[in-house]
Amino acid sequence: MWFFTINGERLYSRIMELAKIGQIGKTGVRRLAHSPEDKEAVLLVKRWMEEIGLKTRIDHFGNLIGRLGGAHSDLPVLMVGSHIDTQPYAGRFDGTVGVLGALEALQTMIENNVVPVMSMEVGAFSDEEGNRFHKGLFGSSGILGLLEDGELDRQDKEGMTRRDALIEFGCDPGKFPECEYRHDQIHAFLELHIEQGPVLESKGEPIGIVSGISGPLWLTVELNGFAGDSGSVSMGIRQDALAGAAKIITALNDLASEDPETSTVGTVGSLRFFPNSRNIIPEKVSFTIDLRDIDEERRNAIETRLVEVIKESVKKHQLTYDISEDIRSEPRYCVDWIKQIMREESEDMGLNPPELMSGAFHDALAMSTVCDYGMIFVRSKDEVSHNPKEYSFPRRYFPWGRVIV
Ligand code: GLV
Ligand code: MN
Ligand code: MN
Ligand code: MN
Repeated sequence: MWFFTINGERLYSRIMELAKIGQIGKTGVRRLAHSPEDKEAVLLVKRWMEEIGLKTRIDHFGNLIGRLGGAHSDLPVLMVGSHIDTQPYAGRFDGTVGVLGALEALQTMIENNVVPVMSMEVGAFSDEEGNRFHKGLFGSSGILGLLEDGELDRQDKEGMTRRDALIEFGCDPGKFPECEYRHDQIHAFLELHIEQGPVLESKGEPIGIVSGISGPLWLTVELNGFAGDSGSVSMGIRQDALAGAAKIITALNDLASEDPETSTVGTVGSLRFFPNSRNIIPEKVSFTIDLRDIDEERRNAIETRLVEVIKESVKKHQLTYDISEDIRSEPRYCVDWIKQIMREESEDMGLNPPELMSGAFHDALAMSTVCDYGMIFVRSKDEVSHNPKEYSFPRRYFPWGRVIV
């Protein structure tokens, strides 16, 4: 095997430059999926891809894909990448490290005249984060033909549909089928990502090898009551949807924290209610549930108990309810042959990366349904992410990487 050293300064300066698009404050970024900022970022990365000689395309899911032809173009491709869309109040590293890291790896290969055996593609997959339309992994699921019915009708906070947002971005949803891959066209998927957790920092290690991604369950709960004057409607006959929601939200937090030794996490991160007036009893509430665990059975058992709480609360407050499912995935594990290569090469570089599970999900979760995958985590400072304070320091946190061929 041969190896070449990447240009870490170049990688870091590209991360900083990309962070200027949608910049909020000093270190924050807001690049919502399919937004004008997202498009500007895609065009910048596309230009960088073309400058190093990749053949690029933006597909109708809004994915950016850069291809380096291999010696045997008939072989399935090796995909590498992540995402460059962000949460509304995000940092500079989540996702971008994986896209620009992959770009850097390919640039290093090209500069050293390395032609891979199979073609390689760098993907910047659209809407990994899932905050705008309450469902993530859109682009990576799209190319695999895994989107569900109704996906285009999802609406953002302003009532814009995913369909219209994509059209504004320049995509034609009618052409989705021609952008899909046959599953045997992808050999494997590799993703570099920030850890977003505490393990690497607590162990003093710059990188880790991901063992798997825990299973996310995303639900949307809607409660319907009856509006009325907050001064005159007596407590006994109220149908207060927000009071009903409050019980459920607290119960989710309690259930997920019952055993602090486990990896269960539960969050209500988005809540909307109507009519949202100081002196009107809330009539409608809609909120999200995000429940994740490495152990799918344990997660599902908590879901069952939570649904009991929902039924009790609805009864007590005389409401009706509806629960819809946005994402339900089992935990998915990285394959041994990729982990083994990562381990051997890291040891050769004098590193001793621990194995760790990912609580967050990644494009690799979608890719794992059709091919082998592996992930490397870069250590995060103070386990902060989805926050402008998110930080991964060059040199201490990004080891000067190698491309192994
Ligand atoms: C989204 O990217 C998540 O893991 O929450
Ligand atoms: Mn991410
Ligand atoms: Mn994220
Ligand atoms: Mn993620």
